[in-house]
Amino acid sequence: MKYDVVVIGSGPGGYVAAIRCAQLGMKTIMVEKYPTLGGTCLNVGCIPSKALLDSTELYHNASKHFPTHGIDVTGLAVNWPKMMQRKEKVVTDTCAGIKYLMTKNKIDTAIGHASFASAGSIEIAKTDGTSERIEASKTIIATGSKPANLPFAPIDKKRIISSTEALSLAEIPNEMIIVGAGVIGLELGSVYARVGTKVSVVEFLDSTIPTMDRTMGKELQRSLQKLGMKFYLSHTVKAITSDDKRVALVAENKSGEELKLAGDYCLVAVGRQPFTEGLALDKAGLMTDQRGFIPVNEHLETATSGIFAIGDVIGGAMLAHKAEEEGIFVAEYMAGQKPHINYRAIPGVVYTWPEVASVGYTEEELKQSNHEYKVGSFSYRPLGRARAANESDGLVKVLADKRTDEILGVHMFGARAADMISEAVVALEFRASAEDIARMSHAHPTFTEAFKEACLAATANRAIHS
Ligand code: FAD
Ligand code: NAI
Repeated sequence: MKYDVVVIGSGPGGYVAAIRCAQLGMKTIMVEKYPTLGGTCLNVGCIPSKALLDSTELYHNASKHFPTHGIDVTGLAVNWPKMMQRKEKVVTDTCAGIKYLMTKNKIDTAIGHASFASAGSIEIAKTDGTSERIEASKTIIATGSKPANLPFAPIDKKRIISSTEALSLAEIPNEMIIVGAGVIGLELGSVYARVGTKVSVVEFLDSTIPTMDRTMGKELQRSLQKLGMKFYLSHTVKAITSDDKRVALVAENKSGEELKLAGDYCLVAVGRQPFTEGLALDKAGLMTDQRGFIPVNEHLETATSGIFAIGDVIGGAMLAHKAEEEGIFVAEYMAGQKPHINYRAIPGVVYTWPEVASVGYTEEELKQSNHEYKVGSFSYRPLGRARAANESDGLVKVLADKRTDEILGVHMFGARAADMISEAVVALEFRASAEDIARMSHAHPTFTEAFKEACLAATANRAIHS
C-alpha cells in the first residue's frame, strides 16, 4: 500500500501530525507498537499523573483545608484501588478519544513495531508474528522517549522504579525515596506525600526544578517541605540496593558526608532519553547523535530528504505541547506552507500544588548572556481572591528588557499558575511590554491580578497593592 505519509508513533507528536496531514489532504497511516494510542503522554505520562495529582489534591484539601473553610468532614479515607481505577478509566477514555480522531480523519492505523526497510519503505512487525510492508512518500518519526537509568542501579520495575511503575503501585508505600528533584520527582512525590508516604528526594544539583528560574525552585521546595517532603540537595547518589521488600540508597554531599536512606520503593526520575530502538535508522541513511537524539534541520527534516522527526526523539523541551507544535509544523511544511514555532514561547508547568509555570528566559539565563533586564515581582498575599480562596502562597515574577520594557520571561508560583501562564505566552508571542500588560484591565478578584501587578512593579515600581 502506498501512502503520502507514514507517522511512526502515536504520542502527542505523532497523532497530532497525522491529523494535520489528513486535514491537508494527505493519505496518512500511523503506526504504534502498543495496542493503545496516545504514547507516553496519554498512557504513562501527562494524563495518569494529572489524574492522580487531582485525586490526591482533593483528599489533601478535604483533610487539611476544609476545616479552615468551616467544612467538617468525618470518616475521610483514601480508597487507593478506587483512585487507581479512576485513573485507569481516565487513561482508557482519553486513549479511545485518539482512536476516534483517527477514524474521523480517515487515518489508517497499524499496531506493530515499525522499522525502516529503506527510506520510504516501512516494515511493520505485528504481535501475532506477521508483518506488513508499506510505502510512503514522506515519513515522520515520532518515537518519543523512555526513562533514563542510573548506570549503577538499573530500574528493575520492582523496588527500583520509573514513573511508569510509580503511576500504578498496588499499595500506598510507607516510605519512598526519589532520585531527581525535577518535574517527575516533585509531581509524583506530591502524589504520595499527600496520601501519607514519607517522601525523601535526593538531587544532584543545589536546587529543585533546577532548569527553571531559581526563585521558583526555592518557593516550591518550601511549600513541599510543609507537605512533609524531605530534600537532600547537592547529593551524589553512590549506590541503590534492593531486595524483595525494601530498597536502600547511599549518597554523599559536597563535604563527603554520607547519607543513608531506606524505603519501600526508589523512584528514579533523572530525566528521559530518546527512543529509537529497533527502528533500523541506518537503512534509511540516518544516525542518532551522541546523546541518542535524531538530528534535524530548521524544517525538522532529517539528513535523509522526506524523513522528518518531531517530539522527544529530537530533544529540546520534552513536553507534549512542544511535540504537538512540531507535528503541525511538519505537516504544514510538507504541504508547502511556511509554519513557524517560537520555542521561547513554549510554556513549562509543574503540576504540584501550588503550581509552577514559566515561559521565556529565566533570570539566570539573562544574567549569563549579559542581557540588561529589570524585575517586577508580586506576591499573592495582598490579592483579594487569594485570601478568599486561602491560597496566599504565591508569587509572579516578570523579567523585562531594561531599555525597551519588552517582556522576556514570566515565572509564576501559586494557585492556578498553570492556566494563568497562557496570558504570559500571548504577551511573549506578541512581544508585549510590561507597560502593555500593566495597562490592561484584569478582572477583580482573580489570581491574574498578580500578573498585572508584577508588570506594574517592573515598570518603575508602581504596583498598587504592595
Ligand atoms: P511519546 O509520547 O513518547 O510517543 C511515542 C510513541 O511512539 C509511543 O507510543 C511508542 O510506543 C511509539 N513507538 C516508539 N517506537 C516505535 C516503533 N518503532 N514503532 C511503532 N511505534 C513506536 N508533558 C507535558 O507537556 N505535560 C505534562 O504534564 C507531562 N507529564 C508527564 C508525566 C510523566 C510521568 C512523563 C513520563 C512525561 C510527562 N510529559 C508531560 C512529557 C510528555 O509525555 C512527552 O513530552 C510526550 O509524550 C512526547 O511526545 P512524543 O509524541 O514525542 O512521544
Ligand atoms: P528532569 O530533567 O525534569 O529532572 C531530572 C532531575 O534529576 C534534575 O533535577 C537533575 O539534576 C536530577 N538528576 C540527574 N541525575 C541525577 C543523579 N544521578 N542523582 C540525583 N539527581 C540527578 O527529568 P524528569 O523529572 O525525569 O522528567 C523527564 C521529562 O519529562 C522532563 O524533561 C519533563 O519535561 C517531562 N515531564 C514533564 C512534566 C510536565 O510538563 N508537567 C511532568 C513530568 C515529566
